[in-house]
Amino acid sequence: MTAIIRIEQISEYVGQEVTIQGWVYNRTHKGKLVFLLVRDGYGFVQCVAFKNDLPEETFEEIVHITQESSVEISGLVRVDGRAPGIPGGFEIGITGIKVIQIADEYYPMSLKEHGTDFALENRHLWLRMPSQWAILRVRATVISAIREWLDTNGFINMDTPILTPAAAEGTTTLFGTPYFDEGIAYLAQTGQLYNEANIYAFKKVYCFGPTFRAEKSKTRRHLTEFWMVEPEVAFCDLDELMEIEEQFVSHIVRRALEERAPELASLGRDTSSLEMISPPFQRISYDEAVERIAEVREKTADPEEKEQLAFDWGGDFGAPHEIALTRQFDKPVFVYGYPTAVKAFYMEPWPGRPEVCKSVDLLAPEGYGEIIGGSERISDPALLLQRIHEHGLPEDAYKWYMELRRFGSVPHSGFGLGVERTVSWICGIHHIRETIPFPRTINRVYP
Ligand code: 4AD
Ligand code: MG
Repeated sequence: MTAIIRIEQISEYVGQEVTIQGWVYNRTHKGKLVFLLVRDGYGFVQCVAFKNDLPEETFEEIVHITQESSVEISGLVRVDGRAPGIPGGFEIGITGIKVIQIADEYYPMSLKEHGTDFALENRHLWLRMPSQWAILRVRATVISAIREWLDTNGFINMDTPILTPAAAEGTTTLFGTPYFDEGIAYLAQTGQLYNEANIYAFKKVYCFGPTFRAEKSKTRRHLTEFWMVEPEVAFCDLDELMEIEEQFVSHIVRRALEERAPELASLGRDTSSLEMISPPFQRISYDEAVERIAEVREKTADPEEKEQLAFDWGGDFGAPHEIALTRQFDKPVFVYGYPTAVKAFYMEPWPGRPEVCKSVDLLAPEGYGEIIGGSERISDPALLLQRIHEHGLPEDAYKWYMELRRFGSVPHSGFGLGVERTVSWICGIHHIRETIPFPRTINRVYP
């Protein structure tokens, strides 16, 4: 047998005999030719069996092979501009095949279009389809780029607990679980508060893990379990935070473009809008954002849009507002200084204007909306205690957190980037449930 290669490297093997290990994704039979589209985990390639070149029984075996059968195929790599595949344009002329398993005739995820519910119910098989495979390959690169940038820019990874004693991002989205004699523990909504302890030992830290929110909303941007990376930095104010964010996001996009071009092309993503993502990103205040949205509303002739864009100062933006706003920018845009009332308890008030806070959200272009939420944190112990009371939070559970403000307190800031929302923007995918291998939403925990 010849060397086993990965389809992603096929361009290096033109004119050579190779072997691939994988699964039959599709089969078409045209007289003396059978075309198998084969996937090996690294790509998809067309393999062609020509009757005259193969022993009778080998050709017959190929004629009858079922979708998803596992195979080892040997053959000669050729360039063929018409050949489908990821990357496309290559073909393997089959010289030998070893069938490992003939898949059951009835494969639920056949190649016809499936409704979303059916696809989600069969997620364990849907993962094999080219679109899902491509999205999740981009996701892996995004995760790798996140770690790479942080690890090479002075950040150290600190894992924060998943089982926690109290809320950090509002009490309405908590998942509770009985915890021995300690009462109820909650699945972490964020690792941020622990990171605020970690910075006093390590200065610049990040946690990266699953995050849980009992979100009752059924939007295309909400999961109940998602992955968030949360950098936190001592001696850092809001402006410095935005500089970190724009460098960080630009690096992630660049890596995805460099490494996942075939995947993005297979998804039909027009990458020209991603090519121009580089620092700096524009910064606008919440007040200015409200004005811009009002102007769009003023101008639109569409009564439905007018209705959707209605907005009073003090609220949080909904999807229609974010879409109207981000359409005005080619790159992600920072919106800073949100009303204190709609943000978390720990955000530093704006100097001289306590009704707004030193928060900043980063909104992705093309209507993808918030991918990052962050802020400068309250560093004054008395103010922090007051805010904990105002939010009706249990003081006992935050004793350790308030203590951080008594021993070497400094201005500090941090943010959280949602992996799934970032991947859906980069891939141009409408719903974030396709950007995680096994999505969890309000009405789905299977498979
Ligand atoms: O804005 P959020 O709630 O911020 C925090 O949790 C802060 N503690 C982060 C920090 O400062 N360390 O969430 C941050 C990001 C959002 O911008 C979004 O990308 C993602 O996490 N996110 C969700 N993604 C999917 N499903 C959900 N239900 C999400 N909620 C937040
Ligand atoms: Mg947010």
